[in-house]
Parts: sequence; C-alpha cells; structure tokens
Amino acid sequence: MRLDKALQSQGFGTRNGCRALVEAGAVRVNGGLASDPDAEVDVTNLELSVGEVVWRFAPRVVLALHKPSGTECSHAPTHHPSVFSLLPPHIVARGVQCVGRLDADTTGLLLLSDDGALVQRLTSPKRGVEKRYLVTCAEDVTDAQLEALQRGVTLKDSPEPVRGTAARAGLHALRLTIGEGRYHQVKRMVAAAGNHVVGLHRESVGGLELPAELPAGAFLLLDDAALARVGGAR
Ligand code: URA
Repeated sequence: MRLDKALQSQGFGTRNGCRALVEAGAVRVNGGLASDPDAEVDVTNLELSVGEVVWRFAPRVVLALHKPSGTECSHAPTHHPSVFSLLPPHIVARGVQCVGRLDADTTGLLLLSDDGALVQRLTSPKRGVEKRYLVTCAEDVTDAQLEALQRGVTLKDSPEPVRGTAARAGLHALRLTIGEGRYHQVKRMVAAAGNHVVGLHRESVGGLELPAELPAGAFLLLDDAALARVGGAR
C-alpha cells in the first residue's frame, strides 16, 4: 500500500494532510524516518510513528472501553463529555461507533469499532449477545423481584414479556443478564419488577469480561481471540 494511503486509512488525516506529514518529517515507518509519501509499504506488521503516536497498522479496530459515569455514547453529546473524547483522535477519525449505547450514568464495558458490519452483528437482537449488569437498587432486592425478572416483565415497547437471568448480589444489588439492548432496558425491567436502579455497571458482553486492571476512562484494543470471546462476531 502507498504510504499516504496507509496513513489515511489509519485515521491520520486526509491524503493531502498525510502527504504533508511525511514531507514535514513527522512520520517513521518501522522506526526509520520516511520522506516519500508515494513509497510502497508492506502493511503486515507495519509500525507507523506519527509525531508522538506509535501505531501498529490495523485493517480494523475493536476497542474495549471502561466507560466512566458522566459520559455520553454520542458524537454530539448534550449534557456530558462524549466517550469519544477518551480516545486518541486518530482512532476517532476512523469512524469508530459504539456497539450499543450505555446511559450517561452507566459504567463498565463498552465495545467500539470502525467495522460497521461487526457493530451491526453484535447489536442485532437476533444474535442475542448477552450483557451482564451489576445493578444497585434503591430498595431491598426481594425474591419476588428476582422471580419477576426471571419470568419476564412487561415493557411498553415489547408485545412479549422481557426476561433476563437474575441473581442476588447483595441486600440492594442484583446481577441481570439480558440478550437484548432496548432503550433503558435494565432500568425499566427493574422498575417493572418493583424496585429502582440507582447504579448500573456492565460487567461483560458475551464471554468477554471487563478486564479488572482497566481503570475507568481507559481502553484497550481487542485482538481476534478476545473478539471471539464476545461471540456473535461472525
Ligand atoms: N439498561 C439500561 O437501563 N441502561 C443502560 O445503560 C444499559 C442497559
């Protein structure tokens, strides 16, 4: 691939912008200073350095972000900073999208990718990729509430009762696993069961757990093995 195109595909700017970066001496290819934007580069194991950014060429990116509270899953946030403000500009420029949305006050595992087909597959209700939430409630969690969540509760936008796998996680807390991702689904399900959500944290998507060592606000790039753990990706 031509160097200017390789840089552009990785989000480092327009083709002309990328050419200018090379001509200004801001680009290294596998550690060596680049001077010709028309040079052919082998993208297998290609390491690009652009200014301070060191980046391994990737045909697509899939990220796991530990979403902090007070962030919106939108490019045009209204009340809080966007989750995209937590990512490097060149990754945002690739057009990464959230794999489903979490509410502004929800924390935990949020996947993002620039592969639109992958995002569609992972969010498709047909695939039913399971999401597990740790839910903190305002009132004591009762057995009757857990049974209602297991049996299915009625939500306005669903003709069928909506159910999940529910388990107690403390006096005021439960774990709920659901295969869909309707608007405010967990909050509405818990309200329909007779309680009120005061804290919501997504622990896992498919078989992928939020890495314990990933602090709130940080992200990591998922390799194919980690993506396979999510399930529903193919
Ligand atoms: N269900 C909710 O109610 N909110 C979320 O952010 C995710 C699931």
